[in-house]
Amino acid sequence: MTKEVVVLVSGTGTLLQALIDAIESGSVDARVAAVVSDQSGAPALERARRHGIEAIAHPFRKGGDRALWDAELAEIVGAFEPDLVASAGFMKLLGGAFLARFGGHTINSHPSLLPSFPGMRAPADALAAGVKVTGATVFIVDPGIDTGRILVQTAVDVHDEDTVQTLHERIKIVERELLVRAVREWEPGES
Ligand code: GAR
Repeated sequence: MTKEVVVLVSGTGTLLQALIDAIESGSVDARVAAVVSDQSGAPALERARRHGIEAIAHPFRKGGDRALWDAELAEIVGAFEPDLVASAGFMKLLGGAFLARFGGHTINSHPSLLPSFPGMRAPADALAAGVKVTGATVFIVDPGIDTGRILVQTAVDVHDEDTVQTLHERIKIVERELLVRAVREWEPGES
């Protein structure tokens, strides 16, 4: 059965692109029903539109009501009745209203070997800690910060000459494969 997926993004959207490419090449039986971003200018939205995918901005305005924003996000996503929500470089925590509706079928891609280095600066934190191996993880989102059940994970070596950017780019190569695999292996109804 073709899975209906809504993808949440904030930035460039190379993970999203990997998923779109895998679907278009027939290696994943899914459809990206919509892409939703908290950033109106996210290049990821343009990527979606180029592939004929509905792209929606739902920005959070500084000083705004976070719970309301979260409930609105749940409404926007809910309109597409997704089997799976994939957070792919979405830089906002999903709140209670969203998880009440989509908890158990929302996955997130994270640039570290969780439970090490949760949060928004995982590659920088790995470099600062001096670890020789970090990686990427796709997990099921729960109310914690990057604490949900791990689905797939791959290690990435840290090189002596790495900067945050070179390390993150190498991790993202692995993340793209992991996200595609997680969507491919997801069974509708799974949680
Ligand atoms: C990815 O590394 C993703 O794991 C990270 O943002 C990048 C998005 O790349 N997300 C987080 O760190 C969330 N905590 P992209 O915009 O090129 O797809």
